[in-house]
Amino acid sequence: MLAGFLAWFPCLFESFADYCIPPIQPQERLRRPWQDIITGVYGHPPLLKIHDRDGAVSWSFHRDDVTQSLPDDVHTCLFANSNDATEVKYMNNGTSVGAVYSDLILVMNHTPRNAATDKLITFALCRRNDVLWNAHTLEPLPGNLIAVGTTGQRAWDGILVYNASAANNLLANPPILQNITGLRAIHGLIWDEQGQMLWAAGTDAAADGSDPVPAYGTIVGYPWDSSTGLLSKDDRYVYKLPEAYTIETEWGKGYSWWAGLHDLVPIPGQRKFLVSEDRGLHAFDIESGQFTEHYENVTNKYLQGFEVTTDDRHGHDGDGKWEELPQSDLKSFNVAPDGSFIYVQSLWTKFRGFHTSLVVHGQRRKINIGDEIYRSRWFGNLDGWPKP
Ligand SMILES: *[C@@H]1O[C@H](CO)[C@@H](O)[C@H](O)[C@H]1NC(C)=O
Ligand SMILES: *[C@@H]1O[C@H](CO)[C@@H](O)[C@H](O)[C@H]1NC(C)=O
Ligand SMILES: *[C@@H]1O[C@H](CO)[C@@H](O)[C@H](O)[C@H]1NC(C)=O
Ligand SMILES: *[C@@H]1O[C@H](CO)[C@@H](O)[C@H](O)[C@H]1NC(C)=O
Repeated sequence: MLAGFLAWFPCLFESFADYCIPPIQPQERLRRPWQDIITGVYGHPPLLKIHDRDGAVSWSFHRDDVTQSLPDDVHTCLFANSNDATEVKYMNNGTSVGAVYSDLILVMNHTPRNAATDKLITFALCRRNDVLWNAHTLEPLPGNLIAVGTTGQRAWDGILVYNASAANNLLANPPILQNITGLRAIHGLIWDEQGQMLWAAGTDAAADGSDPVPAYGTIVGYPWDSSTGLLSKDDRYVYKLPEAYTIETEWGKGYSWWAGLHDLVPIPGQRKFLVSEDRGLHAFDIESGQFTEHYENVTNKYLQGFEVTTDDRHGHDGDGKWEELPQSDLKSFNVAPDGSFIYVQSLWTKFRGFHTSLVVHGQRRKINIGDEIYRSRWFGNLDGWPKP
């Protein structure tokens, strides 16, 4: 016991360092897995929370919790008027949370058993510029790097890579290590440990209709070279949905946007992704490079117990044909290894939902009722898909 205590003694002085995270306590290990969910709640200020399957909160963050001194420009972006809590990710074996929060992309400590290190921001990136203002997602890469999707419509939008090592000083605009252009409207990024690739979900052309061509929902794999620490573009790993879809049924005739991809999530223990676009779900098999199921065939096979969350998800498409879109606007969804899954469906013609759906043994119930939510995710390393 005493030796254990002494080992952590330097933490009293070196509150910033990674190695000051206390060892996981036995009672933590005995907890049933797949109880913890992280949710971003929009508001002023936005809130990040980790809660159980009943919605009981075990950890939360909002900006008034920050006591560390921040560079002025980072502070300004943290305390911006923005209500965003767009992305929430499990990082560093659960000792960090990555988030799009207010006008920042940030990584902070999650060490609930050590108040001195908990919630310290270890990486920040301000979104208050033409490139990152709409950035929706991030994903850790090996070597303490972080990939950020710019979620824009222009040819030079795509992925920017930064050094998120906690040893570096916080800067509002840290140096860009890599700039990978071409994929528009990126909403999902997933590290693939087995394939040593970063996968991204976006569109091949401007999703807002500003290009003279339709935009197809597109999944791209970027191989990672561990010797250079760089990602590369490779045409072999570009997969487009078979059709480009308009979204006039939801947003009205003549609406210029094309259906874009929302969330890209692996199925635990399998080399498969599920991806949502504005109209519904698709399954993608990595080894064959094929989209294998679409729409209700996806829910029938992988998400039994999925239910539409409101009864108004229908209308006339651009040609006047009546359509039901029960799977539309799945802003996030996540399957746990035990088969239970969560999802957030925004309200019809709105951008966010007001609860998280949790399906266990095919039975759906609502948690986080009343919260304005874009994303909820399991807070854990999915089998076969460990974060670096
Ligand atoms: C996470 O835990 C695994 C297994 O204990 C270890 O190999 C790995 O280095 C850890 N990663 C981080 C980022 O702490
Ligand atoms: C990231 O920063 C850390 C700490 O300064 C440094 O040791 C590491 O070499 C950097 N990585 C890259 C790829 O620049
Ligand atoms: C990324 O590269 C493109 C193409 O060279 C360039 O137009 C763009 O400004 C770069 N982005 C950033 C943030 O530097
Ligand atoms: C679902 O699967 C059936 C049987 O393979 C197929 O006929 C049908 O077209 C599929 N539906 C969709 C929406 O892909």
